[in-house]
Amino acid sequence: MAAAGTPALLVSDPGNLGWLTGFSGSFGRALVTARDAVFITDSRYQIQARAEVAGFELRTYAAPVETDTFVAEQIRALGLGAIAFESANTTYAAWETLAHKLSGIALLPAKDFFADLRMVKSAEEIQKVRKACQLADAGFAHILRMVQPGVSEYDLCLDLEFFIRRQGAELAFPIIAVSGENSAKPHGKPGERKLEVGDFVTFDFGARIEGYNSDITRTVVVGEPTDRHREIYDQVLKAQLACLEAMRPGVAARDVDALARKVLDEKGLAKYFGHGLGHGLGRAVHDFGRMNATSEHVLAPGQIWTVEPGVYVEGFGGVRIEDDVVVTESGIEILTQSTKELLALPRP
Ligand code: GLY
Ligand code: MN
Ligand code: MN
Repeated sequence: MAAAGTPALLVSDPGNLGWLTGFSGSFGRALVTARDAVFITDSRYQIQARAEVAGFELRTYAAPVETDTFVAEQIRALGLGAIAFESANTTYAAWETLAHKLSGIALLPAKDFFADLRMVKSAEEIQKVRKACQLADAGFAHILRMVQPGVSEYDLCLDLEFFIRRQGAELAFPIIAVSGENSAKPHGKPGERKLEVGDFVTFDFGARIEGYNSDITRTVVVGEPTDRHREIYDQVLKAQLACLEAMRPGVAARDVDALARKVLDEKGLAKYFGHGLGHGLGRAVHDFGRMNATSEHVLAPGQIWTVEPGVYVEGFGGVRIEDDVVVTESGIEILTQSTKELLALPRP
């Protein structure tokens, strides 16, 4: 905060709040100055906050006290002339209320205040993502037995969700299981479509353990793959492996993205790859950090990235292969270990 010239900070983004304080509830505020650390929540979370939040003075309120009034009172009590707020998750309406209740105190917009800090994960954070990746791998192994003609996308999702939740984890995000021409939609919505021979089937899902996520994608084929299946799949895999090979500290994220496109273009497939190569992963599925053509990020030890090239051919289908990796001192460690061999299912 001193380096950023921030005298005081009001933290409201749930992801930043969780990272900073350990709080896992849906509503809280942290007030941080050089001297004070105050955590505010309401009566719903009083017991939980006492257990989860260490190192902050806890201040809670209950009805009929109104949230904005209470938060403003706590800020005023700090006797500050200015306070920074998180501009990326403060609505205009919330800002108006704050400005009204805190007249005389300057409100300073702070954008991505936590980005650099959150991008580099601690050993403990890496361990949590590693566990989430192990569960994602187990989920993929589990769902393979369901992949056969006649099974609906929706049933694949339900079964995989049940498996993940039964292990005590949450879903990182609603599961994507898309088949046939639906698999050409990178984030297609699973529905009642039933698998048919000749389908690509793409699973994109993750587990959340102790607040940390995994995010894996694998594509399989129903029945025997044709030459077209193989050509697309093999090139996506080649692009992904080249990117993993190139990743090490000091490499520009945009160069890794460009490499994926260069390899796909050996077969004229780069035009079917519309999204970025990857993103930071941690407390958020789309955590701080983007690996795309305009990224300014440089790889550094402790960062966790997804690496997920894809090719999506409308009317035919799509392939995406996504792994989660942590940047080490000398290269990367790949946290998701599921096979990337093109699986033809069901197995004979
Ligand atoms: N499922 C979200 C992503 O892969 O980025
Ligand atoms: Mn994903
Ligand atoms: Mn992803």
